[in-house]
Amino acid sequence: MRPLNIGLSEEQRNGVIQLLNSDLADAYLLLIKTKKYHWDVVGPQFRTLHQLLEEHYQALTESIDAIAERVRALGGYPLGTAESFLKSASLKEHPGDLPNGNLMVERLASDHEQVIRNFRQHVDQCSEEFHDEGTADFLTGLMEQHEEMNWMLRSFLEGESLQPSGGRESANDLAGV
Ligand SMILES: [Fe+2]
Repeated sequence: MRPLNIGLSEEQRNGVIQLLNSDLADAYLLLIKTKKYHWDVVGPQFRTLHQLLEEHYQALTESIDAIAERVRALGGYPLGTAESFLKSASLKEHPGDLPNGNLMVERLASDHEQVIRNFRQHVDQCSEEFHDEGTADFLTGLMEQHEEMNWMLRSFLEGESLQPSGGRESANDLAGV
């Protein structure tokens, strides 16, 4: 195939491809973790969580495909092995345990927040360091999707109630415990 001539140097494209591949690895880990909890969850909130997590893993599946295809559009190759995903991801797995529903949600929310922080940094790098506004815009859109998923997970968590000031207070505080 003839060389890619889109106004980015090979060095700039490689820098962006590396960022995208690390985001791809994290998205894959988050997909696996979300699916596992969709399968494992039990308790009175079963249906709500089972369905919410299904919506999230469907959204993650689409974003994984979009990230991988953006790597190809920039002339690179996406990671595609479990080993490489594990090596490149910033998220950690919790093998061999069965947390309750709230802890599942807590863990997923904290993973989404990690991913959001990564995206924020990658958006800056794409536009400032690599002059790739297209990928900066693409990652900004993904970051917003994760912010929305994180909002849904955080809203689910028990033991928190909104205060008129917008702050939060735990159920224990409210009960005077
Ligand atoms: Fe399912």
